[in-house]
Amino acid sequence: MTETQKQNNTDWATRGAYWVKTAPEGASTTDDLNQILIGLAGIEPGDKVLDIASGAGDPAISIALKVGPQGSVTAFDANPEMLDGARNRAEKMDLSNIGFEVGRMEALPFDADSFDAVTCRFGLMSAEDPVSALEGARHVLKAGKKAAYMTHGSRAKNTLFSVLRPAVLAFLGEEDDGGVERRYRFSEEGSLETVFKAAGFTNIEEREAAKTVIKEKGDRFWQTMLVRGFGARIEGFEEARMEALHGSLEKAFEPYLNGDQYELLSTDMAARGTA
Ligand SMILES: C[S@@+](CC[C@H](N)C(=O)[O-])C[C@H]1O[C@@H](n2cnc3c(N)ncnc32)[C@H](O)[C@@H]1O
Repeated sequence: MTETQKQNNTDWATRGAYWVKTAPEGASTTDDLNQILIGLAGIEPGDKVLDIASGAGDPAISIALKVGPQGSVTAFDANPEMLDGARNRAEKMDLSNIGFEVGRMEALPFDADSFDAVTCRFGLMSAEDPVSALEGARHVLKAGKKAAYMTHGSRAKNTLFSVLRPAVLAFLGEEDDGGVERRYRFSEEGSLETVFKAAGFTNIEEREAAKTVIKEKGDRFWQTMLVRGFGARIEGFEEARMEALHGSLEKAFEPYLNGDQYELLSTDMAARGTA
């Protein structure tokens, strides 16, 4: 494992606990994105699906519901801490058609022609070598079956994250170390298509999924992202300091208020290819 891979793994292992804390109780709170992947990958009831970089269970939980009792989904992730969230959700929902496996997407421990579909939501940006990770996905897919991947759109088209991060760093008095650039690695149009092509997929399609998210004034809608991104650094805050942090965030999001509602852009990129 290279130094970058080790650092990436450590990052995710540390963040795992905060993802578990903020994971939904059961069904996905971002199911609209999961349904895009399910549609692109052509997932049908009875299918056997691999979900790479499943984290706290998206889209694996939505896929388990779609494939039903005759089908199955393997939630696969490099960090067991992250999968705890997915496991809790599956237990709460009594889902018995979901399995969990720990491993790296660059070295998938499955036989060739094993799956009817492969999905991956917000994981490819973390790959050391995205093309070889995609080649691995193609290898474990049955011939003619599809892989569908989702990555984040550009900073300018993602209000929540692009406003939250600098505002929290300013509050903490910290410089941005640039590590977050990885998040936007496949945000440019055509960049997912390029790696799918290089990995040998055919019938490649790429699309942008953009929406405006509406939140009510007074709703601390940034809470989940705040905990996931900065949990370890703000956990010990006393109440007054935490309130001051929320006050700064309220101010930072003020320009996005239209009357009593926030209007936030949220954009992701999705691509599919056939094995
Ligand atoms: C941004 S989270 C996405 C989690 C989930 N798919 C979602 O959309 O909420 C990225 C996930 O990728 C996992 N990950 C990072 N590098 C990986 C690798 N090389 N192989 C497999 N999983 C990896 C992390 O542990 C983390 O759970």
